[in-house]
Amino acid sequence: MERYNVLVTGGAGFIGSHLVDELVRRGHRVRIYDSLVDQVHQGKVPDHLNADAEFIQGDMCDSTAVAKALEGIDVVYHEAAEVGVGQSMYEIVRYVKANDLGTAVLLEEMIKRPAQFRKLMVASSMSIYGEGAYRCRGCNKTVTPFLRSNEQLVTHDWDFKCETCGTRLEPIGTAEEKPLFPTSVYAVSKQDQEQYCLAVGRAYKIPTVAFRYFNVYGTRQALSNPYTGVCAIFSSRLLNNQPPTIFEDGEQSRDFVHVSDIVQANLRALETDGGDYEAMNVGTGRPTSVKQISRLLAKGLEKDIVPDIVGKYREGDIRHCVADISKIKRLLGYEPKVSLEKGMEELLGWVSKQEAVDKVSAATAELAAHSLVK
Ligand code: UD1
Repeated sequence: MERYNVLVTGGAGFIGSHLVDELVRRGHRVRIYDSLVDQVHQGKVPDHLNADAEFIQGDMCDSTAVAKALEGIDVVYHEAAEVGVGQSMYEIVRYVKANDLGTAVLLEEMIKRPAQFRKLMVASSMSIYGEGAYRCRGCNKTVTPFLRSNEQLVTHDWDFKCETCGTRLEPIGTAEEKPLFPTSVYAVSKQDQEQYCLAVGRAYKIPTVAFRYFNVYGTRQALSNPYTGVCAIFSSRLLNNQPPTIFEDGEQSRDFVHVSDIVQANLRALETDGGDYEAMNVGTGRPTSVKQISRLLAKGLEKDIVPDIVGKYREGDIRHCVADISKIKRLLGYEPKVSLEKGMEELLGWVSKQEAVDKVSAATAELAAHSLVK
């Protein structure tokens, strides 16, 4: 197997650091480029930073530093991003700078020497779909609705009904062709990142692969960062003996994918060319409700704490989205390996050794102050 000089932007973070470990394990020479965002790292270099990788601290918008980080590199994994969906709706400049401008800087530096690069992989997100795909049994057709209206949500009527026949819609796997309806600045910036990379990659013949990550969980999630996903948020609440807050009725579902399966997809894209110039879902194809997640975590942490089902809702939240993973299976031979049960067990083993500062209440209050929780 060929060994490459690999740059991982965001390589100190949750997904990036797992990717770095696997690349190092497979004998690649790895360089990490990461700004160590305060909200995630609290001003410290994380303990999990791989000692066998080179580390450069720098901002994605600093073109001189990015150019330096690209020296001698064959393969780029672009995982660096600001990741708080709600927060992106009021810290718009920060998100656009880091995600849009940061990617623009990276690409502009790469195209100064396009022949140097063998591959570019970029972290996109399921958030770009907005709502997932549905099926109406009554009309026997696939439906791709926009968001539920506020008028509907204030009545606590959470589910979609077919506009033609009124039958309740059933969620089905969301495939890559579904029209994109990003509903947050974060999601728009992820769509931008994906499309900038694919467009520039195509034009300059740098084989580029965009991965639409579904709801990723695993060790090293920033538990004290209240803007990350529901698994980290609930774990942090439970560890602090606080009930998790469940929005809507808890029956909303997502596709929770273990971080090692995300790493698997990224490695497959390096080792085979089947996914070049394509955007692909990375998930499990299996839906899990938020209530189920809360139950699994409480049980695993042995906490007899009943969640607060508040019946409120977050602006821009979707009801269901689960990945259709046929494309990535076909093009890259990807197969999710970690079941939710096994993955949660591992997550909880790690979580119970962590101290998480619970900032969730403050963050929820901040969202409410911006009218983003209703
Ligand atoms: C969003 C992004 C996704 C990103 C993820 C983590 C969208 C469509 N997707 O996913 O790309 O990876 O954030 O940053 O924007 N929930 C509660 N209580 C809480 C927190 C969440 O009930 O304290 C519920 C939410 O209402 C939602 C579900 O849990 O229904 C999942 O929320 P979250 O983990 O934030 O992820 P998404 O919104 O699915």
